[in-house]
Amino acid sequence: MNQDKWTAVDRYITDLFVPRDPALEAALAASDAAGLPQINVAPNQGKLLQLLAQACGARSILEIGTLGGYSTIWLARALPADGRLITLEAEPKHAEVAQANIARAGLSGVVELRLGPALTTLSQLAAEGRGPFDFIFIDADKPSYPDYFAWALKLSRRGSLIIADNVVRMGAVADAASDDDRVQGARRFNELLAAEPRVSATIIQTVGGKGYDGFAMALVIAEP
Ligand code: SAH
Ligand code: DHB
Ligand code: MG
Repeated sequence: MNQDKWTAVDRYITDLFVPRDPALEAALAASDAAGLPQINVAPNQGKLLQLLAQACGARSILEIGTLGGYSTIWLARALPADGRLITLEAEPKHAEVAQANIARAGLSGVVELRLGPALTTLSQLAAEGRGPFDFIFIDADKPSYPDYFAWALKLSRRGSLIIADNVVRMGAVADAASDDDRVQGARRFNELLAAEPRVSATIIQTVGGKGYDGFAMALVIAEP
């Protein structure tokens, strides 16, 4: 098993389950043209996020880490006509590219992008009494994942679903001695998730065109 095989199978899956989509393709092309890193979720993972948001009947979604808005578009399309998505991004250039991509997808009326370090914008959201969110996607800087989980819980209700990307990190997450602060951030996040009685959680490893990583999923089972 190797990366070439994972990439070929991802293409096979995407050809079957992800129809060509001008807005999503344009979002990736514009992100590339602007020099953004290619660290968006894969197409089949975007579809998975959308399915999960639809399955829990999400009407309000919070995303931490927008990049060019690729996952944002997948998630916003899961919403009913009166649904809302708030996405948080620290980099002005990423936010600018994302806003254009979101507009091109016809989702400017649904998506609110808040520019700034997420720990700041999360505390602003809480102060404004926003939430609870039905679905929360954590995908920003990995060392802050433990803090993002605390905010996600605060901004949840019983029945909310919290998903976090990149919690396996090519398997490095199983190495307690790792000196990578992204790995240690994911480890601490995973431990908090496991120890938190208000959620029921698991982690699924993933391979594909984007390599070897994994998603954490946590269902809020008690009023947080
Ligand atoms: N969810 C996107 C990918 C996000 S990549 C997708 O799948 O399409 C992670 C993003 O988090 C980057 O754009 C990065 O600029 C942003 N980020 C990093 N640190 C941040 C912080 N402290 N607050 C908010 N966003 C941050
Ligand atoms: C990185 C960030 C991501 O969200 C991702 O999915 C892959 C890589 C990174 O910062 O390297
Ligand atoms: Mg990610």
